[in-house]
Amino acid sequence: MEIDATQLMHRLYQLSDSARDTNGVLSRLALTDQDKAGRELIVGWMEADNLVVSIDAIGNIFGTWGSEIEAEPLMIGSHIDSVRDAGIYDGCYGVLSGLAVVKALKEQGVEPAFPIVVVAFTNEEGNRYAPDMMGSLVHVGGLDLEQALNTKGIDGSILGDELQRIGFAGSMSVGAIKPRAYLELHIEQGPVLEAEGISIGAVEDLQGISWQEITIDGVANHAGTTPTRLRHDAGLAAARINTFLRDQLASASASTVATVGSIEYRPNVINVIPSQAILTIDLRDPDEARLKSAETQLEEYVEQLALQESVTISVRRLARFEPVQFDSELVAEIEQAAQQRQLSCKRMTSGAGHDAQMMARICPAAMIFVPSKDGISHNPGEYTDDQSLLQGSSVLLDVSRKLVAG
Ligand code: GLV
Ligand code: MN
Ligand code: MN
Repeated sequence: MEIDATQLMHRLYQLSDSARDTNGVLSRLALTDQDKAGRELIVGWMEADNLVVSIDAIGNIFGTWGSEIEAEPLMIGSHIDSVRDAGIYDGCYGVLSGLAVVKALKEQGVEPAFPIVVVAFTNEEGNRYAPDMMGSLVHVGGLDLEQALNTKGIDGSILGDELQRIGFAGSMSVGAIKPRAYLELHIEQGPVLEAEGISIGAVEDLQGISWQEITIDGVANHAGTTPTRLRHDAGLAAARINTFLRDQLASASASTVATVGSIEYRPNVINVIPSQAILTIDLRDPDEARLKSAETQLEEYVEQLALQESVTISVRRLARFEPVQFDSELVAEIEQAAQQRQLSCKRMTSGAGHDAQMMARICPAAMIFVPSKDGISHNPGEYTDDQSLLQGSSVLLDVSRKLVAG
């Protein structure tokens, strides 16, 4: 048997429907009720597929085929949490394909030389709690469990409390499962594969990511009576930072990208000069030296801006991950598997962050990408056709079969 495409698609739609509100908007922010509903579906499917389910203290869900976890399993997976107002594929496709691969291997009568673990990592998106890729980061020992559990969310909630509330604070120690290899299948979330008419991406590296939160404190005052020269306008300073990112940093190098994805003003009304602005910056580059240089330029600009606009500015780091190289042998296996199925394939860099970048710290890791229509992602319009999804899952199946042959 090959991948059961009907079941894969059915599960994908069922999972997405579990997180839609009455307007049809899909948001499965980490550890919300929607995440709980999605997790319960995943656990139910793992059990139905006769996998042994274990949940660790940060809420990562593992479904194991085979009994000896200590025998260094092959791990396959991704995440199911989403951004706000998301599409249906990001992360979920990778986890559900992991289940589909195990099912196909069982039906093919494969007897793996060691267990296979399908994983759904906690809080990959980092929308509600920073940093992103948190579950996998804790798994590999890159973030202390207590620190992660104490993380305060954008809604004031504490991660550990929410994990308890939704019933997913598990008893397994974090990092207990040490895989021999990690594979993650994902939609590309960018335009490259579609534009070049290529079916499979063999992801060989992933760019560096810098997340910062900037708080600007000015003085609230009357919008009509306060002369421009006497203003301490936190809102204006926020706008200047945003344009600096585009005009100075992103324009200087084709590979640097910068985004102010969230901004909050206080008091946020029409006739009051903002007393405070809090904005987030997502800065990325595949080259560590360029990323560092962009961070330094931003830091210098912010210092100068504070003087120029008579405001105070403080910076809090939310996440910082260096670019990652994936395992060259696994990348070659992916290429070979694509070739054997007569699927066009190219080596590429991931622009998005993924749990695989954390897993690469403790074991050989690599990723398989399939095309994203119009390169759209983190958007309800995210779309990959069923045939491309099946092709990606089939490559994952072939690579997994080869790896577990021992
Ligand atoms: C994760 O989805 C990221 O790249 O921000
Ligand atoms: Mn993802
Ligand atoms: Mn994402």
